[in-house]
Amino acid sequence: MKKIFGKIKKFSLGIFKYLGFIISYRFGKLKYNHLFLNITSLCNSNCVFCEVKGLSHKDDLEFERIKKLIKEAKDLGVRGVTFSGGEPFVYYKIWDLIDYTLGLGLDLNITSNGLLIYNFSEEQFNVLKKIKNIFISLESADAETHNQLRGGSDFFQKTVSGIKKLVEKNINVIIASVISNKNYLKIDDLIKFTGELGVREIVFQPLHIWTNYDSVEYLKSKDQMVLSPKESADLKKKMKASIKLAEKIGVKNNLANIVPWIDKYFEFQKPNPEKGRWIKNILPGYKCLEIFTKIFVGSDGGLLPCAMLSPRDNVKDKSLEQSLKSLNEMKREIRKGRFPAECDKCSCQVASNFTFSLILSPIKNFRYLLEFIKYKF
Ligand SMILES: C[S@@+](CC[C@H](N)C(=O)[O-])C[C@H]1O[C@@H](n2cnc3c(N)ncnc32)[C@H](O)[C@@H]1O
Ligand code: SF4
Ligand code: SF4
Repeated sequence: MKKIFGKIKKFSLGIFKYLGFIISYRFGKLKYNHLFLNITSLCNSNCVFCEVKGLSHKDDLEFERIKKLIKEAKDLGVRGVTFSGGEPFVYYKIWDLIDYTLGLGLDLNITSNGLLIYNFSEEQFNVLKKIKNIFISLESADAETHNQLRGGSDFFQKTVSGIKKLVEKNINVIIASVISNKNYLKIDDLIKFTGELGVREIVFQPLHIWTNYDSVEYLKSKDQMVLSPKESADLKKKMKASIKLAEKIGVKNNLANIVPWIDKYFEFQKPNPEKGRWIKNILPGYKCLEIFTKIFVGSDGGLLPCAMLSPRDNVKDKSLEQSLKSLNEMKREIRKGRFPAECDKCSCQVASNFTFSLILSPIKNFRYLLEFIKYKF
């Protein structure tokens, strides 16, 4: 009984966190709160599931434009920024950009492959102590699997050394891992390894085969990494067990937000005429929070509706505020539940949209809500 009350209490607190979003959504008043910015298309890695290496660096935004963009986002009410890429730490003015962003009083996250971190100076670690979170991509606790997926024979050793240094310096690290058929059997090992490294949180992201880089053809090798229906069903079972393991060793994670839909997810990584549209299969009342609350800008200044979709506009020669207007029509349609065909690519955003949708329409999604509460709390 005590356990059930504990769950209800945690759930109520969770709802409270979303209450502001729900009220604002109902009245059509959601505001942007976060800027996701790819500060460079350059990368020092060669991951088998990522098209970044096909991008042209000559199109990247100038340093001064990036700075102005961050200020414009702040003026629009954004409170946090995430630097991604390419690899943010190969960007020639990364430290200036970190200083600038923190100087504006914004929260800063960085997503990195972690390859350069083990070699950072004391001074650089002191700067990183001021950022909110650093997400480090790690695909497996097994060096060989990580190296194969990330495309370098010493990448595991370098990235793990970087993580250890960050933990030693008390910098907030979150491990990020892409789930594919190459590593799904070993998520437990990765959770245990996360705990052993002293990292308190891991986030999983199911592989997507789509790319939002219009100039680059998607990597066909990704097709071979998609889980079969049988493997997806196994993954779902494994994830349920992993949630218990993670709880036992005190590693926070996003598995409860993924479990309810993961078995269906991989079936829709290619258009699936037999089953219909992915966006209509996620949840009966699926809603999108992302397009209303987050701003996504690619390294060339492309303004994206979300992390997965192609750019609608470009901020290179235009203010961010002006450029965001290009999304108005799409936002109106999505709010009415009329998702454009491309929303069938919805992937890394499903976890947050899913939770929001459950809380927004609890009756319609009662079955999923129960499953979510069971695993989340
Ligand atoms: C594009 S990377 C840029 C930041 C940095 N270079 C890194 O690897 O962490 C941002 C995140 O996208 C993830 N990612 C890249 N390709 C993906 C795919 N096909 N499916 C799912 N996640 C992917 C990466 O693992 C990483 O966590
Ligand atoms: S996932 Fe990150 S590290 Fe890997 S190729 Fe893409 S941008 Fe580079
Ligand atoms: S793909 Fe998903 S996150 Fe992106 S706009 Fe469509 S519903 Fe929203």
